[in-house]
Formats: sequence, C-alpha cells, structure tokens
Amino acid sequence: MAKLIKNGIIVTAVDQYQADILIENGIITQIGQSLMHEGAEMIDAEGRYVFPGGVDPHTHLDMPFGGTVTADDFETGTRAAAFGGTTTVIDFCLTNKGVPLSQSVQTWHAKAAGKAVIDYSFHLMIAEINDDVLAELPAMIHEEGITSLKVFMAYKNVFQADDGTLYRTLLEAKRHGALVMVHAENGDVIDYLIKEALEAGNTDPIYHALTRPSLIEGEATGRAAKLTELAGSQLYVVHVTCEEAVAQIAEARNRGVDIWGETCPQYLVLDQSCLEKPHFEGAKYVWSPPLRPQFHQEALWTALKNGQLQTLGSDHCSFNFIGQKELGLGDFSKIPNGGPCIEDRFSILYSEGVAKGRITLNQFVDIVSTRSAKLFGLFPRKGTIAVGSDADIVIFDPAVTRILSAETHHMQVDYNPFEGLEVRGEPITVLSRGEYVIENKQFAGNPGAGQFIKRKNYPSASRAARPEKADIADKGATHV
Ligand code: URP
Ligand code: ZN
Ligand code: ZN
Ligand code: ZN
Repeated sequence: MAKLIKNGIIVTAVDQYQADILIENGIITQIGQSLMHEGAEMIDAEGRYVFPGGVDPHTHLDMPFGGTVTADDFETGTRAAAFGGTTTVIDFCLTNKGVPLSQSVQTWHAKAAGKAVIDYSFHLMIAEINDDVLAELPAMIHEEGITSLKVFMAYKNVFQADDGTLYRTLLEAKRHGALVMVHAENGDVIDYLIKEALEAGNTDPIYHALTRPSLIEGEATGRAAKLTELAGSQLYVVHVTCEEAVAQIAEARNRGVDIWGETCPQYLVLDQSCLEKPHFEGAKYVWSPPLRPQFHQEALWTALKNGQLQTLGSDHCSFNFIGQKELGLGDFSKIPNGGPCIEDRFSILYSEGVAKGRITLNQFVDIVSTRSAKLFGLFPRKGTIAVGSDADIVIFDPAVTRILSAETHHMQVDYNPFEGLEVRGEPITVLSRGEYVIENKQFAGNPGAGQFIKRKNYPSASRAARPEKADIADKGATHV
C-alpha cells in the first residue's frame, strides 16, 4: 500500500524544509506540499525530522574472531540497527589465503540471507594478491557489485597483509573502480610491544591501549596515504581514533590525494581510562585501534566539522562480557577486539553532534548516511530523500531524552559501552523500501526482507575520463 508521510521536516545533506512524501512500491514518488493520494496510509510526522535512513559503512556480523564468534548475527544485528535508525549496513566479508574469493563471498551471503531485516552489502577483505586473486577480482567488483576492498595493516598472523599486498590492491582498485579500505596500525610493532608487555607481567586490559600507541596509527595512516599517492589510487581509512591519523589524512587531502576518513562513536565519547575499570570491566572497552586519552576527541570532532573526516561507522563487533571478553582474563591480548554500537551510532552522533552544537543538521545527515552512500556506490538509491530513491526513511523525534543501556537496547550482547549516556532524540518509525521495520518504536520487520545490494564502481577522478559503461561492458576482462 502507498504511504504518505505528512508534515515532517525533511532533512538531507543539503536541505531542510517542511513537505510531504509519497511512497509507492518502495520508492519515493513525490515530495511536495499538501500531497494527497487515494488509498495511501497516512503517517503523521508533525514536529519530527524525516531523515534518510542511516548507512553504516562498517559492521562485523556473525564474524569469527579471537577464537569465538560475534554475539550478533545478521538478524539480531540488523534488527538493532533498524531500531537505531540505520537502514543499510555494509559488512566485512572475511577471506582466507588460498581460498577462492567467491567461496568467501558465498559464505557471507549464507550468513545474511533469510536473516537481514534491512538492506546490506559487503566489503571484501584482501589477504593476499596472487594470480588466483587477480583473476577473480574483476568478477567480484563488476558482477558481485562488491566495490570496496579491505586491507588490514595490523593483527599480525591473523588478518595482517604486507605493504606489497596493500600497494597491489590499490593498483587493482584503481584499475577496476573500487575503493580500498585500511585498518591503519603498525601490526609488526604492536606484535613486539604486546610480547614485551606480557613478558613483563603486564596482563590487564589497559595494556591493550598502551601497546598500540597513537603514533603508530598515525605512522600506518601516513604510509597508506603515501602508497595511495604512488599508486594514483583511492583510500578510505576506517576507525580513525587520534590526532596523528587525522593530521596524516588532512595533509594528504591537501595535496590532492583521494583519501577519506571514518571515525566511530566510541572514539568521540569514550576514552582510554575506560580500560582501567576494575574487575576486568576494562575488557568491555577493548577496540583496535584502542580508545585514546580524551584530548584526541576534540581533534576528531573538529575533523568531522571541517570535513577532514567524512563518515561515521559503528565498527559493530559485539562480544559478550561473560564468556567472550573473559577469554582475555590474565592476558589482555586474548580479549576479543570490538564492541556493540550498531544501534547507537545514529543517536550518539545526533545528540553529541547536533544537539551539542558541534555539527549542523545537514552535516549530521551527510556523516551518518549520505557520504557513505556516495563513497560506496549506493547513492542516490540510498543516502538521501529524493524522488526515485528507495524509501529508506527515519522519522525522528528530536525532543525526547533517553538513557542508553543494555537493559533497553536490542543488540544481542550483555553490556552497552555507552551505559548511562543521556541522549537527545530517538528514531520513532523506520521504513526500509517503504515497509515498516520499526513502527512507533515497535519492531515490525521481517528477517529475510533485507536485500543484498550490488554497488556501483567508485567514481574516481582518474576514471572520469573513460565512460563507466565501457568498464562494465567488458566485465573487467581486459583493462588498459
Ligand atoms: O576492535 C575492533 N575494531 N574490532 C573489529 C575488527 C576491526 O579491526 O575492525
Ligand atoms: Zn579494524
Ligand atoms: Zn571493524
Ligand atoms: Zn574492471
């Protein structure tokens, strides 16, 4: 049935105005004043913001890591995402050396199919570059629509790839129109620092942070930026935590390097002291890169405000405290890295950003939705409110005040790292392609309703001279 959203304040990355929205067959078909449509269901949005659904560019659902598997799968994770105002997630498909990329992608499809309640896509991890990978990559990008490749510069002996692999991935991405993403930390140095700490008997969670100094996040970010410049390619740095990394990104951007930076809510509102909480509670706050001393938060907010960082990912990677984080009792290096954030990303940015006057409403929409949709080939289908776009819509009450808590959240995990944080604003109703996923704060979605979205190529300047059609037509068989 058609739906008509009446009287809300539509906010996009560039506009803010009062208008009605007509939705037919999952698509926005009209935006205007005093719209009427026979038979349409009316949704009253008086006094509320009407935002495009959030696009979360960084999640880990149903992911094996550190000898265990994340607490949220595609059903519980996307359900929580929807409660929080997110209508598209891009999850990281892990790969293993020697295993065909297509097999890893099929594994990830099997995790999501029949479970996701909102739309989703995948980034593809690159663990190695060899003839097999080179032969498969064009099909992954052009046929599977997986147009972003992830390289880990850390997690030695687990996910870490060397600089040669990163460089060759950058070259391949440039050739086929993909965006390379990096986890930028110096894994070799961290490996040494961890061994040194454990040998000295320093086993508590705080040593997770102390063995991953911000200086080497900055160093790895700068190295990746230089390799990107050398390759003439494009780079997206995930989960930026510190002023050193921001400075490297800003410096490269100022020289014209095609480089983008993402941060996460945890780095904007939590700090390193959380890892010192007693009774091993510090383990709840173990992310890589780690939470930083508080002064870094200012650098991140400033970078979001002035555009040196452009997106916010949740990096949702949830592990229960009981039985999972506890794997690191007596050895901080065995604490599974990551935390739950998929549900709170949207509201924390609104509350800490807009309500506290750090960013504008339009910047909020850009950071939480539009920019990721553009960078990852989803725009304008996702990431905006426009005629012809999917009706992925959040009706948001800016007047509500509430407290984030594990007792009320919908993530399948036994703690909330933002426990007790008061936030302004709440998603009330959330639509995915015109269907209710959340209706008046109640879940109304269906597992399996979420669709895999094939994404467009990365629109890099170096490729603009050549029509994109030519690339798609030759299916990547030969490129000059
Ligand atoms: O600690 C984190 N960030 N866990 C998830 C994996 C990653 O590095 O993004
Ligand atoms: Zn990472
Ligand atoms: Zn991550
Ligand atoms: Zn190609």
